Amino acid sequence: MLWSKSLETGIPKIDDQHKELFRQADILVDQSKADRVESTLNFLKDYVNKHFADEEVYHRSSQYPKADDHKRLHVEFTAALKKQFEEFRKAANKSAMVLTINSIVINWLKEHIMRHDKEFAAYYIQKQQH
Ligand SMILES: [Fe+2]
Repeated sequence: MLWSKSLETGIPKIDDQHKELFRQADILVDQSKADRVESTLNFLKDYVNKHFADEEVYHRSSQYPKADDHKRLHVEFTAALKKQFEEFRKAANKSAMVLTINSIVINWLKEHIMRHDKEFAAYYIQKQQH
C-alpha cells in the first residue's frame, strides 16, 4: 500500500476514499489479479468520478473560494485517465500499460492531495470551527 499518513487531510470521508483509490491502483498491478484488469479499470473510473463529485459537494457546501479551479483539475485528470484507458484497450503490451496507469494514478493523487486537497481541508476544518 502506497498510502501514508502524511496524505491525510483530516476529513474522514475524503481520506477513506483516497485510501480506496490507492488500494484499487495497487490491485491493478497485482499479477494474481491480472484477469480482472478490465473490471478494475472500470471500477477505478467510476470510483474516481464518485470521489470527485463527493469532494465537490464539500467545496460547494462550504463556499470554497477555489472550488472552480479545483474542479478544473478533477476534469483534466478524468480526461487524462479516459485517454489512458482507451490506450490500454488498444495496447499490445497490456502489462506495461497497467504499470503506466498505476504510476499516473498514484503520482497524480499524491501531488493533488498534498497540494490541493490539503489546502481545501485546512479551509474546511477551520470553517467548521467558526
Ligand atoms: Fe481533489
